[in-house]
Amino acid sequence: MTAALEISGLNVVYGGAITAIRDLSLTVPERGFVGMLGANGAGKTTTLKAISGLLPFENGRITGGTIKLFGEPIQGALAHKLARRGMLHVREGRHVFINMTVEENLLAATFALTGRGAKRSSFDEIYALFPPLAARRQSYAGFLSGGEQQMLAIGRALAGEPRLLLVDEASLGLAPMIAREIFETLSRINREKGIAILIVEQSVTLALKHISYGYVLENGSIALEASSDKLADREMISKRYLGEAAEPAGV
Ligand SMILES: Nc1ncnc2c1ncn2[C@@H]1O[C@H](COP(=O)(O)OP(=O)(O)OP(=O)(O)O)[C@@H](O)[C@H]1O
Ligand SMILES: [Mg+2]
Repeated sequence: MTAALEISGLNVVYGGAITAIRDLSLTVPERGFVGMLGANGAGKTTTLKAISGLLPFENGRITGGTIKLFGEPIQGALAHKLARRGMLHVREGRHVFINMTVEENLLAATFALTGRGAKRSSFDEIYALFPPLAARRQSYAGFLSGGEQQMLAIGRALAGEPRLLLVDEASLGLAPMIAREIFETLSRINREKGIAILIVEQSVTLALKHISYGYVLENGSIALEASSDKLADREMISKRYLGEAAEPAGV
């Protein structure tokens, strides 16, 4: 079966000099739920930006390797083109349009679909996945709580009808209960809609409950990769690769 995402020997350089990613290979199977774990500065966000075509906006460049989306080479393609091909990136930091309502945010995302079939007119499925958004569909996104903004960021990606979702630090700064809820919804999206997901996550315990396979990054390279059961068995991974801050209380 063709993988949703297949990265082989990726190298990324910032500013023409600093190597951020070295010889990284990673696969997300079709309908898979895969995680990238690692300490601050390991290169997780850089990897996602390399995949989704955002590096040129940050003076970053892919200097080697290949990236395939459902079997098609995509390295060098820009984000809006990739969105049309079914890959959506939920960036670190919940980038929602704060001066637009929840519904308008979702509507804006359907523009990514231009050239890939009909625009959708109803967001019922998204509101069913995230009930707090349904209750606030006419509220400005800027007035939503952090958790609701994260739901909207994911909901907006779903409005673009992805086949592969990249999600960067979905739980960052959220109360453990909300973080758990968001992960459970991501699992449902994966299971019920068959959308492949690659997540980046600092909360290792939470991530390992949901992903089926994980890669641990260290200094821009894969230090360890295994099924989530095996990773969960290795108590040393959090201490050795992720530091003490990797296990927030109550998760
Ligand atoms: N725009 C940039 N220009 C130069 N260097 C950068 C840039 N963005 C990131 N870096 C460097 O690349 C390395 C990887 O950063 P990256 O943001 O990918 O890490 P991360 O694993 O996502 O970390 P965190 O967990 O803190 O989000 C770091 O050393 C960082 O300083
Ligand atoms: Mg990051």
